[in-house]
Amino acid sequence: MDNSPKYLKDIQSDFIGLDTLYTRADGKKTKRIYLDSTASTLMMKAAYNAIESFYDHYANTHSLLHFSAKIATQNYKWAHDRILSFVKADPNKYACFFTGSGTTAGINRIARIFRDFQPDRDVVLVSLMEHHSNDLPHRKHAGKVVHVPLDDHSGQPGCINLEILTEELEKNKDRINYIAMTGVSNVTGIINPIYDIAELAHKYGALILVDGAQMAAHLPIQMNGHSNPLRDIDALVFSGHKTYVPGSPGVVICRKDILSSMEPEEVGGGMVDQVHVDRYTILEQFPDREEAGTPNIPGAIGLAAAIDVLDKIGIEFIYEDETALINDALNHIKQIEHVIIYGDTNCSTCPRAASISFNIRGLDHGLVAAILNDYHNIAVRNACFCAHPYVKEMIIEEIVGSGKDLDKIDFNDELKIKAGMVRASFGIYSTQDDVNALVSAIKDIVAKRNEYSDLYFLDETGNYCHKTFKPIEADLFSVKSFINEYLQKL
Ligand SMILES: Cc1ncc(COP(=O)(O)O)c(C=O)c1O
Repeated sequence: MDNSPKYLKDIQSDFIGLDTLYTRADGKKTKRIYLDSTASTLMMKAAYNAIESFYDHYANTHSLLHFSAKIATQNYKWAHDRILSFVKADPNKYACFFTGSGTTAGINRIARIFRDFQPDRDVVLVSLMEHHSNDLPHRKHAGKVVHVPLDDHSGQPGCINLEILTEELEKNKDRINYIAMTGVSNVTGIINPIYDIAELAHKYGALILVDGAQMAAHLPIQMNGHSNPLRDIDALVFSGHKTYVPGSPGVVICRKDILSSMEPEEVGGGMVDQVHVDRYTILEQFPDREEAGTPNIPGAIGLAAAIDVLDKIGIEFIYEDETALINDALNHIKQIEHVIIYGDTNCSTCPRAASISFNIRGLDHGLVAAILNDYHNIAVRNACFCAHPYVKEMIIEEIVGSGKDLDKIDFNDELKIKAGMVRASFGIYSTQDDVNALVSAIKDIVAKRNEYSDLYFLDETGNYCHKTFKPIEADLFSVKSFINEYLQKL
């Protein structure tokens, strides 16, 4: 029997934070509608419960012989194996290791590893749609970064064009060390053809690093085992906090032969075999050699638990379900007068996942996000989403007119207020009701734009603030009060 529909239905409503109540500017207390999953997803209860149960046995994985140490070590190992099989990476060829709190730490690490693996190749190709975390680490560690322009697909820049990418590969031919590409844009949600890009990269002797921050929770990934091995991925990085386990680490999956060819980037306890005062030898086994220090054991175990749940539902099934929701949202939002959606909105020619970024003509992104929060209890993100070049390229004409050179524009405070978008983003727990609420909220803002605008002012930091509605965050929740109350109850 196919359990996917049942599991999906049960799990969708089993997240912490779906019932959080806030009082809106109109005095009504309503449930928060969380449409900021691209920034961070909510906590999957099954994973939370798994971590909580594990705490009964918590111990350091570097301890050896007591019961809890063995339990921790075994489950921590399982977490690595579980993730490797989730992304279809052959454990003989790939290692999984945890690093930092998100994708950023992993990308910095891979940039240094790839630099040292092919030291005579000094150029890195990144697309113009990358998050800063998949751009700046390559600039800092790996050499000269070339930004591959995007296609003017259907009148809106937004997509990778393989012909343009090939031209860039041709231009720098033997100098290109690797291509660093996001699997899914955190701005438009556009899905990139990473396996085609891998094939191209490998034909030119380059490696490929996939930024999977927006992929892992939303669509299937296949690291290797393609009928054409050129389509295999050399390294993938993603974030646990975007994969339904806030507080869990970043994940790196990388070819073992690359990692084994050099001393690990980070050294310390847990990754060495013999240490003398004048020398040391590094452990050969993975993941130990890549994980110096005591790791975030509960976070890693919780993440693997969430991934196990996603796999039991079926990630293809989840992808189809989310695609239907996003398609519906796109179709409704694009019909609203004065709304601009960024990137190609035809999902059959340009598949998307997780994010939709938009603006309402004549209203600043910050004002729209504030109204969505204050009057509709809808949590969205606004501004440039750590992808300045991509966002600015898509909005530049609207805010400064055509024919301007983006690099020469000074984004002063006034322009910053205009230069941005509103992003609604979805996760496994997002529902048709959420989409309906967003669509009717946007319609409401368009209809009452003047009324709403009069209720807000810009503060000195450039944020829109309500003139009279001023909720105090500490009254809504504070750890300090929580601990005080907790102690009183003891
Ligand atoms: C595509 C993409 N790459 C990288 C990152 C950075 O991830 P983290 O903040 O987990 O390091 C993000 C975060 O939003 C992202 O969306």
